[in-house]
Amino acid sequence: MSNEDAVSLFGKSVVALKNFSAEEIHLVLNTARKMKQIIRRGGDKKLPNLRGKAIVNLFYEPSTRTRTSFELAGKYLGADVVSINSGTSSIVKGESLRDTLRTIEAMGVDAIVMRHKAEGAADFATQVVKPIIINAGDGAHAHPSQALLDLFTIEQRKGRLVGLKVVIVGDILHSRVARSDVYAMTKMGMNVHLAGPKTLLPRFFEFDGVTLHESVDEAIQGADVINVLRIQLERQQAGLFPSTREYARVFGINDDRLRLAADDVLILHPGPQNKGLEISSEVTYGERSAIQEQVQNGVAVRMALLDLTLNGGTNS
Ligand code: NCD
Repeated sequence: MSNEDAVSLFGKSVVALKNFSAEEIHLVLNTARKMKQIIRRGGDKKLPNLRGKAIVNLFYEPSTRTRTSFELAGKYLGADVVSINSGTSSIVKGESLRDTLRTIEAMGVDAIVMRHKAEGAADFATQVVKPIIINAGDGAHAHPSQALLDLFTIEQRKGRLVGLKVVIVGDILHSRVARSDVYAMTKMGMNVHLAGPKTLLPRFFEFDGVTLHESVDEAIQGADVINVLRIQLERQQAGLFPSTREYARVFGINDDRLRLAADDVLILHPGPQNKGLEISSEVTYGERSAIQEQVQNGVAVRMALLDLTLNGGTNS
């Protein structure tokens, strides 16, 4: 590739993967591979790449994995990282999102990693402040770093992405993970299938490369990858969801059901899990599960995103 074609994410906010090209996604995955080697080599993990940079994590919704891994990712790269929780900041005194963002900007930060319950919150942030915005989840809209770590985990375990059959199962309607996965996975040449109760299966995903199923058993025939989603009871209106027992029986991923998928099917779940509802313990802790690896890969992918956007780096 010539320099003119070099893809770079330098200075770019990461709001949704809909706006990313396949080349940009490859750049993140290739960089994450290098970051993973650094995390795994043991000893001192600290790199100087982001020394002198400041990153604020601004989370208006609960998070364990995403917030901690963004925080560690920034720290492993040498940045100063501060995490703000909505419950212990002036947000509880009624400060608006715009004012909170402008306050953080005034302190001289280079990037804001944010999670908010409103769709469009991250895009709004890019319009009102100058620091790079990394969307860590906005309502049911997008969760780009999760989709990138899903792709990275699949590529690491399967050695490729193109042509694989991936089935995303569960509460598609309320899932920002599903939305980002669909855009990223179709872009990378995967065959994407969505399965779940009709009430949780949005028709607007009917486009090339995506197949909808109301039967999980039908969807997972020969699947290479199954991404099991959490039932998001906190985002649901009444009536969309059968009883939990009914859901587990008809849509839950357990060992019996997995016999329909490929022998070496890879199981993903973004967490947190409702064990015994959308996924059984035997599957979570079984040999086909890459759920723990996803968490480790999350740190590497977030290091890649921060390094590429704040520091530069190309694939040429
Ligand atoms: C997801 C989220 O918050 O969107 N979790 C995560 O980031 N690992 C999925 C979920 O909440 O079910």
